Amino acid sequence: MAKPRVFVTRRIPDEALSILRTACEVHTWDHEDEPVPQDELVRGLQEADGALVVGPHRIDAALMDAAPRCRVYANMAVGYDNIDVAAATARGILITNTPGVLTETTADLAFGLMIAAARRLYEGQRTIVEGRWKGWSPMFMTGQDVYGATLGIVGAGRIGQAVARRARGFDMRILYHNRRPNPAFEAEVGASYRLLDDLLRESDFVVVLVPLTPETRGLIGARELALMKPTAVLVNAARGPVVDERALYEALRDRRIYAAGLDVFDREPIPADHPLLSLPNVTAVPHIGSATVRTRTRMATLAAENLVAALTGKQPPTPVNP
Ligand code: DGY
Repeated sequence: MAKPRVFVTRRIPDEALSILRTACEVHTWDHEDEPVPQDELVRGLQEADGALVVGPHRIDAALMDAAPRCRVYANMAVGYDNIDVAAATARGILITNTPGVLTETTADLAFGLMIAAARRLYEGQRTIVEGRWKGWSPMFMTGQDVYGATLGIVGAGRIGQAVARRARGFDMRILYHNRRPNPAFEAEVGASYRLLDDLLRESDFVVVLVPLTPETRGLIGARELALMKPTAVLVNAARGPVVDERALYEALRDRRIYAAGLDVFDREPIPADHPLLSLPNVTAVPHIGSATVRTRTRMATLAAENLVAALTGKQPPTPVNP
């Protein structure tokens, strides 16, 4: 019997390709930096029984209908806001994602952004590189303490909980906001549940880690930013549209909040001349939350395992719409 055919929308590690090749005929858009053009994507999907997908393309109803042979989309990410899951489910198409394997790596980056923004690491490097460092002086480059501060986690799922475990080592008071309180998490790290407004008022660090859904789009806007302390730091390691970028820019520019650490943006790649990037109190990195060699390899291999399982009649390890 002919092997099922799969289309891979970006260059992925060899370990993942080897898994795919055990059971599938593999076709790849084999480019590291360049996303597959839309017409190539449609053609690749039309000829495939399943796909391993890597952003930025939106897998929507029209694309699914243009490629009726393709019955499985294995997303190489934990977030799946790039896929219309309801449309897939209505068509009997399976979606999988890669939860778990990137939790600790992404939590490291979120915690790193907290420290970088509070302690002005990017501004400090710029000061040296641009020859503006005149020497040590008592209040030069003073920032905010992380140790002993109050952390507010908006979305304490797997990654948020991993951030909280790190915060214990910094003796932080931990608040969190979820749709529902999580007593097991509270017991594990000594966290306290808060309504969102109370969390924003009380926290020195607000770390946003909710998935992007219609409910969370614009969750942190001008009203919410106005509730934060002027000394508070906002970190977004979730998805750009969860935070209103214009409102964030104004709050940072007017020093109504202290600083921000951003891994994600409304539009990615964010244009280099975006107003946010002109602010000294913004630390910005290019959506690298899960970007370590080991974790990206594990994400790719898990996506490949999902795809092979689905195409060989087995239960995929991490389905989104089983
Ligand atoms: C994820 O896995 O959701 C990362 O943000 C990559 O998109």
